[in-house]
Amino acid sequence: MSTDTPIIISDLPPDKSVLQRILLLFPFLDEHEIILEISGPLGEDVKTCLNIIQQLGIHVLLSKSSIVLSKVHNLKKDSELVLNCRNSATCARLLLGLLCGAKIRAIIYGDESLSSRPMERVLQPLKHIGGKFEYLEKHGCLPIRVIPSDLQSAEITLSIPSAQVKSTVLFAAFAGNISVSIQGKIQSRDHTERLFWFLHLNLIHSMQSLEYLPDKKPKVPAKMIIPGDISSAAFLIITTLLIGKKKLLLDNVGVNNSRTTYLNILKNMNANLDWKIEESKDCPEAIGKISAQKSILLPITISNDQIPMCIDELPVLSLAAAASNGESIFEEVSELRVKESDRMQGIYEVLQNFGKKVSIEKDNIVITGIIIGMNKRHCNLMIIEYL
Ligand code: S3P
Repeated sequence: MSTDTPIIISDLPPDKSVLQRILLLFPFLDEHEIILEISGPLGEDVKTCLNIIQQLGIHVLLSKSSIVLSKVHNLKKDSELVLNCRNSATCARLLLGLLCGAKIRAIIYGDESLSSRPMERVLQPLKHIGGKFEYLEKHGCLPIRVIPSDLQSAEITLSIPSAQVKSTVLFAAFAGNISVSIQGKIQSRDHTERLFWFLHLNLIHSMQSLEYLPDKKPKVPAKMIIPGDISSAAFLIITTLLIGKKKLLLDNVGVNNSRTTYLNILKNMNANLDWKIEESKDCPEAIGKISAQKSILLPITISNDQIPMCIDELPVLSLAAAASNGESIFEEVSELRVKESDRMQGIYEVLQNFGKKVSIEKDNIVITGIIIGMNKRHCNLMIIEYL
């Protein structure tokens, strides 16, 4: 094969943010069936959601290219559900909103790592609209009991720029049939907003606020396309930029602009990288193609307002920074400490182990890269450490 032949990948795992939202929302819709088209393998968090919705009365038929969901029975409200979210914080946090809105008594729990992650960030706004909960072990953490209660319309000001927090409030308002106005830190990934618009729900977005009104019934299509996961793509793209012998072409990828921040950051680092949106009428999201080629990268400062939009890609962006020629700063990234593991420490340790100059200064990560020494094996090993 000539080195000019690009590597073409069109079967990335489906975007888990997009897929988890539609999976979890489906039991709360009146629709009997939906076909979700996928082009790659499912991740563990998606499998967790599939297990959970089966407990919520959904039959799941899986094939390589689709997930067919059909309703076996409506949501049962007469007994307490016990739902295992394993390692998925998105699943746990979105479910808390949906169950609270639909007045379903349930216990939500997870594995050891998930049980140590903060849940008060979602319970606080949910309590503000009338949700009732009980912490069963440690305050602020799973397991949590959802106690059925009446919700009331309210205004909420978010203090954390988190898509999960914003989404759980919107899901609770939808399931609880109340209106809600969300203000404050609403700039984060916007998959829930897009899903609401796709379903023709009444959600008004301005620069300052998000306003949901429960006056429209959702129109659910027979099928929906789930794009490939742009976060999974980050590993392939950055490996190509650093050591790729061939051009990389990714097809069928979600290129929602609340997720392309890391591509813009790489572009500003001089990456030879492009993406374009294609027609995607059966999908709430922008779907497109990304191409990348080996590049000489420059250092970068990632400012704190960009962080919520590229939080999951910061570990792999740290490799790009370590391979650039100068000092890069990731500003105010303490949110990384409350992910599946302490990812701030993770970045520090991986780069240190590979002899890179890295320091944690208050909530910032400072990486001083030098191109010399970043050989192919070295870079592959660093990426493997992150996977
Ligand atoms: C997610 C939002 C992000 C991200 C997580 C998935 C989502 O977290 O880190 O992996 O699907 O809403 P935040 O809630 O901190 O934005």
